[in-house]
Amino acid sequence: MSANDPASSAYRTGGLRYPPRHHREHAPVWIDAVLAALGHAPAFPAGGPVRLCDLGCGTGLGSLALAAADPRIRLTGIDLDPAHIEIAGAAAAAAGIAAKFRCADVAQLDPPPGPFDVILCHGLLSWVDDATRQAVARFVGGALAPGGVVLLHYMSQPGGAAFAAFHQVFAAHADARDPVAAGLAVLRGLRDAQAGFFRLHPHASATLDSLLAEDPGYVAHEYLNPCFTPLAAGAVMALMRGAGLTYAGSATPCENIDALSLPGSCLPMVAAERDPARRETLKDIARNQALRIDLYRRPGTGLADAAHLARMRSIPWAAMTDAPGPGRLTFDTRIGPVEGAAEIFGPLLTALAAGAQTFGALERVPPFAGRPALLNQALQMLLWAGIAHPLRQDGTAADAAPFNRWAEAQRLPFRAAPRLGSALAPGRHVRL
Ligand SMILES: C[S@@+](CC[C@H](N)C(=O)[O-])C[C@H]1O[C@@H](n2cnc3c(N)ncnc32)[C@H](O)[C@@H]1O
Repeated sequence: MSANDPASSAYRTGGLRYPPRHHREHAPVWIDAVLAALGHAPAFPAGGPVRLCDLGCGTGLGSLALAAADPRIRLTGIDLDPAHIEIAGAAAAAAGIAAKFRCADVAQLDPPPGPFDVILCHGLLSWVDDATRQAVARFVGGALAPGGVVLLHYMSQPGGAAFAAFHQVFAAHADARDPVAAGLAVLRGLRDAQAGFFRLHPHASATLDSLLAEDPGYVAHEYLNPCFTPLAAGAVMALMRGAGLTYAGSATPCENIDALSLPGSCLPMVAAERDPARRETLKDIARNQALRIDLYRRPGTGLADAAHLARMRSIPWAAMTDAPGPGRLTFDTRIGPVEGAAEIFGPLLTALAAGAQTFGALERVPPFAGRPALLNQALQMLLWAGIAHPLRQDGTAADAAPFNRWAEAQRLPFRAAPRLGSALAPGRHVRL
């Protein structure tokens, strides 16, 4: 264990800080729209507050951007690493955001704080030992408010298992002066030499390209950590069942639409399987799924059809200013390129180009008249593709300027976007 590593039996990264990251799936507005699409009741009242816990928050900057964009959020960030928590606290003070940051090992938080309406756990579950995974389950089971939602990100089977090979290379160079650079050089050399591993696992080759452009802190947290367990969806479901939670769906909208995210030849097998764990296992194998971002809730949050429809109809949607025109639209999915039918997406993009509209108003656009399920799927695909986004409905004024000034000075790769209740890359905007 390096002198700079936080005191934990389960997490080591050579003392490098995790870089600032915004994950679009973390925004309560995004989670709410996905839950609505899945036919679930809201996890928090539309007017707020949204008690949000970011467990394993890193430097907390992604969640601070959300709090700057969405004044309903009452943010608590928890992380093991005192240096991360120090950065988070200083950033909150500089941006004038009243967030709580706590330096703690999740295994020591018994009883857990809370209650929270939204618990985010991103980048933790696959990088800790089994005892810490059990502690995460105890935490979410104890800290989640009735009706709340947990977002769990983890490396999954079978596609994530390929990355054990990356871990082996980094472990073999752990004593190098710069283990990140040494490990990357070996992986690149092997790929250049057309090693069989890279020919068999093209997704690992694509990941290597992104790692070569990454901040070393990211690579360190991902690959220097001796704990690495790609998890089977069924094993995570069993872990969460012990905490009283059940799988609600994916926070990655495309993955909730079988017809657009699974090879057509696998659809009959998946459609015939009713058991959720077996079904998700089939889907993961069909897509060679490498990571999952799952939503979990307590049972009983499903809506009857009329309430489901009413909930979807109230949500306003807007396109990004860089949205494509009504021509040909190709979605780059995990199973390869999927063509978006022009007769469906063309009129939808044309309607959104005129300005933000509720789902209810978009239902009047001809291809969607009397076909809310089709509109639901089309909007979820546009959300996933970064083309459209739901808007915050509470109407509360958000002053994101102090955070955004600070983010610009720090050259963060994202800015708070108050109408979306989320964050966007600098220069990206929504068309209202
Ligand atoms: C890969 S980073 C992810 C940061 C952030 N969630 C994100 O996705 O951008 C994982 C974080 O979990 C923290 N962590 C690891 N083990 C932990 C534990 N037992 N309790 C609390 N935090 C932990 C690490 O310090 C690190 O900041």
